[in-house]
Amino acid sequence: PGGGLVDRYGRVATDLRVSLTDRCNLRCTYCMPAEGLAWLPGPDVLTDDEVGRLIRVAVERLGVTEVRFTGGEPLLRPGLPRIVAAAAALTPRPTLSLTTNGIGLARLAGPLRAAGLDRVNVSLDTLDSDRFAQLTRRRRLPDVLAGLAGAADAGLGPVKINAVLMRGVNDTEAPELLRFALAHGYELRFIEQMPLDAQHSWDRAAMITAAEILDRLAAEFILLPDPVARGGAPAETWLVDGFTAPDGGPARVGVIGSVTRPFCGDCDRTRLTADGQVRACLFATEESDLRGTLRAGADDAELARRWRAAMWGKRAGHGIDDPSFLQPARPMSAIGG
Ligand code: GTP
Ligand code: 5AD
Ligand code: SF4
Repeated sequence: PGGGLVDRYGRVATDLRVSLTDRCNLRCTYCMPAEGLAWLPGPDVLTDDEVGRLIRVAVERLGVTEVRFTGGEPLLRPGLPRIVAAAAALTPRPTLSLTTNGIGLARLAGPLRAAGLDRVNVSLDTLDSDRFAQLTRRRRLPDVLAGLAGAADAGLGPVKINAVLMRGVNDTEAPELLRFALAHGYELRFIEQMPLDAQHSWDRAAMITAAEILDRLAAEFILLPDPVARGGAPAETWLVDGFTAPDGGPARVGVIGSVTRPFCGDCDRTRLTADGQVRACLFATEESDLRGTLRAGADDAELARRWRAAMWGKRAGHGIDDPSFLQPARPMSAIGG
């Protein structure tokens, strides 16, 4: 039996998110402690060829049409251009994108574009260099800004920016971040913070909600409903009245309200961790060990069968609001964003 990655609620996963490393060169306070984490041992991490093989199985046998590379920080993976090129050579060719903190992107944007990468999303929570250093524990704001510009120059657009707002840290900066994005032609999305940090410090009461973000923006901008259908995308988008995007169309801003406005019902995602585990959901408490299956010598059909079985167990939603909610054992940096 063939077929795609269907779950018992009838959702079909066509969007594969591949984490290429759990390591990162920043230490965002909402993500990991200053000393970093116990990184995956090298032999546990899939090789470039193993990642390439699993992406091929997903595309050729499981109906995956979009592949997004994440981390940790995926630009730290030396084989990234090779992995992108291998994915771009598949038939049918998947759409290829990358979610990065932007450090090193100024140098890598051209080679990645040449390898077949289509788009990038860059994380940027503040434009103030001291606040950036406080938030990420590294003085790297200029590298990120150069990375954004390099990505746009290389044609990796529309370039999107992801910003997590934290109360008392950068929450008042929302309008300024939007002015910056509009001026440079980047599409900004604000993200509600989720309970996925290594320190388990997430606090629902302190979270800046989608409603609050929109109120802050509405004080300075006129937001109009976006006529373009959202599909399975996590971001709810608005047109920003009076502003134009680089393609000549209307400029947009997005809000990813994962917690207060969950989009689980339309989820089209499946995930592969850097150590070769399939996760049906960001918040899954179970993983399926494809690395073990692969290294035991399984053929493509068997890998596809295991992947399908993993998706069948996907739950209806993340359950953050359930009294019995438990944060997954792995933090976001190890799962992939
Ligand atoms: P686009 O195709 O560019 O819209 O990508 P994207 O927004 O799906 O990808 P990106 O990696 O930029 O993710 C942005 C944010 O969306 C992440 O930081 C998460 O906060 C959130 N997100 C991504 N995937 C999921 C998911 O499966 N569930 C939930 N709840 N949030 C997700
Ligand atoms: N909740 C929401 N977003 C998060 N990110 C990292 N940790 C969290 C969290 N707990 C964001 C990063 C990056 C993207 C991959 O995920 O800022 O933009
Ligand atoms: Fe690195 Fe992303 Fe975590 Fe920041 S949020 S420390 S950029 S993995």
